[in-house]
Amino acid sequence: MFKHKGYFLALAVLATTCAVPAAAQQAQPQAAQALMAEWAAMYSPELKKKMMAVAPETRMQLMSIMVTHDRRSPQATMRQVMQEIMADFQTVSIALATDNGEMAADAARRLANHRLPKGGMLPYLPWDKITTQDISTLPTFNMVVEGGALKVAAAAEKGDFATAAQHFGEVMSGCVACHQQFRGVPGVSDRLVAAPAK
Ligand code: HEC
Repeated sequence: MFKHKGYFLALAVLATTCAVPAAAQQAQPQAAQALMAEWAAMYSPELKKKMMAVAPETRMQLMSIMVTHDRRSPQATMRQVMQEIMADFQTVSIALATDNGEMAADAARRLANHRLPKGGMLPYLPWDKITTQDISTLPTFNMVVEGGALKVAAAAEKGDFATAAQHFGEVMSGCVACHQQFRGVPGVSDRLVAAPAK
């Protein structure tokens, strides 16, 4: 399933040390159900069918993370949200490079509590990735990125830029791993004779 199994395992170990509170993810099952129903009401019949084929506990695991995000957009696409995340990520790097702990902490927390796209994540994932196996990896990527960003914020606020930079690297490894699993190279053209595989 994974192109880089060892890499994923290392990420999973990282995730267990990350700061997204496990309790928060277990909590609010009703709110998670309600959000899933709200999104499902927007889905095409095909997407609904795909979603229902994912194991219920895997769906709930994903939703219990989603529900902890209180910034939910009625219109933004996942790509637009990713661009905001990219902007916050770059802001953190500028702040760390200039010893600006407050700036780094603000941007890292904003990144951790990023906006959710319209309908959640499922509408934007490739069809063949909406499976129990693939969806069950999302909580790990989430914990590495968001837990890592919260650790960056805490260290930067204390003026410990070396530790903050280390956690910043963890965040980047989470972005990269999720892209390998769910995205690939953005904008690849099929009009080139020797186009790289999508
Ligand atoms: C949960 C998995 C996941 C994580 C974690 C993740 N991304 Fe993404 N990212 C995606 C997917 C899927 C897309 C493609 C979305 C689309 O095209 O609809 C994407 C697209 C993007 C894009 C837009 C590229 C394009 O197609 O134009 C940027 C920029 C980006 N991500 C940055 C980041 C950064 C920076 C991080 C880490 C801080 C990150 N992402 C973490 C899944 C993820």
